[in-house]
Amino acid sequence: MTSSAISWFNPSTPLTTRRPSLFANSGYFSAMANPSCRKPNVKTISCSVHATPPPASLLFPKQKTHTFQPSIQTPTLSCGNAGGEEQGPSSPPHHQSWNLLQRAIAFALDAVEGVIISHEKKHPLPKTADPRVQIAGNYAPVPEQPVHHSLPVSGEIPCCIRGAYVRNGANPLHEPAGGHHLFDGDGMIHSVSFSGDGSASYACRFTETHRLVQERAMGRPIFPKVVGELHGRTGIARLLLFYARGLFGLLDHTRGIGVANAGLVYFNRRLLAMSEEDLPYHVRLTPSGDLETVGRYDFDGQLESNSSMIAHPKIDPSSKDLFSLSYNVINKPYLKYLRFSPEGRKLADVEIPLPVPTMIHDFAITERYVVIPDQQVVFSLGDLVRGGSPVVYDKTKMSRLGVLVKAAADASGIRWIDVPDCFCFHVWNAWEEPENDEIVVIGSCMTPPDSIFNESNEKLRSVLSEIRLNMRIGESTRRPIMAEADQMNLEAGMVNRNRLGRKTRFAYLALAEPWPKVSGFAKVDLSTGVVRKYVYGEKRFGGEPQFLPRTPETTEEDDGYILAFVHDEKEWKSELQIIDAMTLNLEATIELPSRVPYGLHGTFIRAEDLQMQA
Ligand SMILES: [Fe+2]
Repeated sequence: MTSSAISWFNPSTPLTTRRPSLFANSGYFSAMANPSCRKPNVKTISCSVHATPPPASLLFPKQKTHTFQPSIQTPTLSCGNAGGEEQGPSSPPHHQSWNLLQRAIAFALDAVEGVIISHEKKHPLPKTADPRVQIAGNYAPVPEQPVHHSLPVSGEIPCCIRGAYVRNGANPLHEPAGGHHLFDGDGMIHSVSFSGDGSASYACRFTETHRLVQERAMGRPIFPKVVGELHGRTGIARLLLFYARGLFGLLDHTRGIGVANAGLVYFNRRLLAMSEEDLPYHVRLTPSGDLETVGRYDFDGQLESNSSMIAHPKIDPSSKDLFSLSYNVINKPYLKYLRFSPEGRKLADVEIPLPVPTMIHDFAITERYVVIPDQQVVFSLGDLVRGGSPVVYDKTKMSRLGVLVKAAADASGIRWIDVPDCFCFHVWNAWEEPENDEIVVIGSCMTPPDSIFNESNEKLRSVLSEIRLNMRIGESTRRPIMAEADQMNLEAGMVNRNRLGRKTRFAYLALAEPWPKVSGFAKVDLSTGVVRKYVYGEKRFGGEPQFLPRTPETTEEDDGYILAFVHDEKEWKSELQIIDAMTLNLEATIELPSRVPYGLHGTFIRAEDLQMQA
């Protein structure tokens, strides 16, 4: 699930995409509720910003002192490519080591920042940037949790579930000083481990990004927030402030500015946490079920330190190759296609020609091709300079999908096919139908496209759709998969990833109703449009459903389980539910020791893979 102008901190770094404001219209705020199963250590903060409806205050947890020691240290403080070493957290610039000039400059820049914040507080924040909206209720952050073993279980955990379900999310360490969008939060991974004997354990940890480490040392946010702050002239002022602090050694932005809060993939013996404005971070699950950050991962020096990778890479279930994209909002090439062998060797680095920098959050693979969206949500520095959002909906641009052979060495063979007025933020699957000379793409088409980035009064719709690309005549068709009477917002989910890129019958998608909350999930028959719903119940909400095949060799497409974090807003308790994907019967409920905020994307790592971790 995003906006971005953050790479304007560093012109050589791609601008991250603007994540959709899944929570933009959330007026919900439960300041009176207990944000944890156990009473959390919270402080009440008065806010002077305004929203509609404007909550009165914001609950924010007091984070414990962090004691994590990275298992792999890379002591380099140099700029540029780290030469293949994983860049583990290291000593950040700290005010105690500043010289007199730095202290004076820091004082002056802090004063400038104070003026910016005062100016911002004179103007109402849009809901997309109001922290009282964005991190209210169960969107609010939680403190880290060490491993809790032998959790209470109702029902029976299927013995075939062995390994760990990990889910990423945004969890700001510090109280926002100004604008904040949910997706600006620091990455935190929630992990439930299954031993196979019916027991389960839970832990949650921040991903130790270079940004987080520096801000923890400073005791406050110092990196501008991509979605919540970089708007208009104050956004430009914050960028300049950030540059100035970097110039005088008051912070280090040379090793990435990302929050690693969106996606998770297990590839080449590594769990990678990703957000698209930065390189991935390598996180390791310990034998006890805890999480530890190894470091920023540049694929052994194969990606430049100032580059980035989107948060939705794809692993081909047959070849085990990993495919991804990397984009730049300032400099050409605006887009690159990346491919890695199962051993992590970069096989392709193809420049994709785009006329303008475009937000591309997701893409698809088939057996032979990659399918790359080039849609109508674009980045515009001009709009930012004129006081607006840097992410805009360009109605004059034609949406199109590019089809490129996976093994392509360059983009000369890419085939662009127009798909008018189509904006799919996520693409769930794609496959080839050679009998029709068509490629079928399954995605959720959002309207209006810019409402997820900029405040809008128009109700957002996310329509599960089938797009057919006729490769013979170079034209497309698009249709809703469900009848209009059955229409509901479906966002966040997946198909059986053992069949990614192949024709799939089922998709498991979050029921984003009432938007942006997730009241359950839908099992959709993509061929008939028939939908079966699993609803969490009154005042109970969740997020992305995780489909786990019963075994890697399972032949029936829906033979497996859905894993889903569910939060009860009446009881203020969180749990993990395990549901049989064939019958939609609840198999087991695992009571969690603390609240799990509504989050973003996850994955499951089987026990055999965990044992092989790098
Ligand atoms: Fe996403």
